[in-house]
Amino acid sequence: MSEARLLLVEDEPDQRSLLADLLAAEGYSVAAASSLAEARAELARAPVDLVLSDWRLPDGEGGELLAEIRRDRPETAFVMVTAYGTIARAVEAIRAGADDYLAKPFERSALLLALERTLKHRALERENRDLARELGLRDRLVDLVGGSAAMRRLYDRVERLAGTRATILLTGESGTGKELAARALHQLSPRRDRPFVAVNCAAIPEGLIESEFFGVERGAYTGADRSRPGRFVAADSGTLFLDEVGELPLTIQPKLLRALQEGRVTRVGTSEEVEVDVRVVAATNRDLAAEVAQGRFREDLYYRLNVVALGLPPLRERREDVPMLAAHFAARAARRHGVPEVEIPPAVMRRLIEHAWPGNVRELAHAVERLVLLAEGGKARIEDLPEELHPGAARPASEGIFRLPAGGISFEAHERDLLRQALELAGGNRARAARLLDLPYKAFLYRLEKHRL
Ligand SMILES: Nc1ncnc2c1ncn2[C@@H]1O[C@H](COP(=O)(O)OP(=O)(O)OP(=O)(O)O)[C@@H](O)[C@H]1O
Ligand SMILES: [Mg+2]
Repeated sequence: MSEARLLLVEDEPDQRSLLADLLAAEGYSVAAASSLAEARAELARAPVDLVLSDWRLPDGEGGELLAEIRRDRPETAFVMVTAYGTIARAVEAIRAGADDYLAKPFERSALLLALERTLKHRALERENRDLARELGLRDRLVDLVGGSAAMRRLYDRVERLAGTRATILLTGESGTGKELAARALHQLSPRRDRPFVAVNCAAIPEGLIESEFFGVERGAYTGADRSRPGRFVAADSGTLFLDEVGELPLTIQPKLLRALQEGRVTRVGTSEEVEVDVRVVAATNRDLAAEVAQGRFREDLYYRLNVVALGLPPLRERREDVPMLAAHFAARAARRHGVPEVEIPPAVMRRLIEHAWPGNVRELAHAVERLVLLAEGGKARIEDLPEELHPGAARPASEGIFRLPAGGISFEAHERDLLRQALELAGGNRARAARLLDLPYKAFLYRLEKHRL
């Protein structure tokens, strides 16, 4: 620990030099500051491993410094020093992300112990993180949860692209996390302290889109009873998220393209152009290339948006994420509704893993929330799952869904196709595939063998 660099923030000169000497004698390399302003300047000059700061400072509170450090240098440890009798401050500091606190007056040994413990804890965390990264075992990014290979690839790309200004098109079925990915791109970017403005292109009536996007001057048209800046201006120096961009009417597309290309917008009702600096992230659950082919989306705008495409995989193609997501949503629901934590027994989890989740993660989140609200004795129950997840629920309907064509079919080819589909849907898990066809496992294996699958 002895090479650790500390920043000591204390306004009382005698205290400051006393502590600085004591810490230096312990082998720490110590920088000292007497105010928030000096602390900021010191941090800008050289990073430190740990900040030891008084709560009360001449130009503000240690809490401000803590918030800045948590935002800009999350790896930096922070120990807050509070005055005697202000335990509420200490609690506040810990909530705000301080690693530890010391109440004045403190013993030398208490100080050294707190610093040592904090630094050791931080070092361990760092090692774990490095190790997880090395092994590619990361299982979340900002608010995205899931450790499947597909999600890890996505995290890598999001991280790499977040620092750039490149326009990104997020694609994927409904409920796969496109909006969360857009927010992660913003959170991990240098723009994170600037606005993230989300616009749902499908929700704005066609006639109002232009003024929503670019702003409107009062009196520009009937109903424009006040001037509004528009979403581009609101997102200036931040990120503009164009959600459901595939729904954008053709009439507005050339104007959007122009704004994107030139970085300038014109308020409705004026001729004056305003320069804006926005990073655009767009999302769609449509196949935009197909929309272009059918003349429903302009090709030039498509190319302008699709500089980098990031695909969010459907949940049924990464079923290994289901247990972690289910636990995440169960804990979240318990917190939200102020109810006790609920355990998901293996039999229920199996159903969650097997389900195809056409509504993807959103649908899973709702199902789990329901399980938590209806649980009894702290356990989720199969009967509280939505209808279509009940054992055998999908079965009765299967009789008669296949109509034999008048010209007949090849039964063998059909059987082979069903086996292949079941395997695909079950993500290669043969026991699960057998259940999808309501076949005993052995009978299923026999048929696989027969078709050499
Ligand atoms: N990987 C994930 N981890 C945690 N929560 C997720 C994840 N993916 C989606 N969610 C949750 O599922 C819900 C839907 O996600 P989101 O709104 O990002 O989906 P979307 O792709 O934008 O869907 P749509 O096309 O329907 O708008 C949200 O509540 C979100 O928090
Ligand atoms: Mg969305």
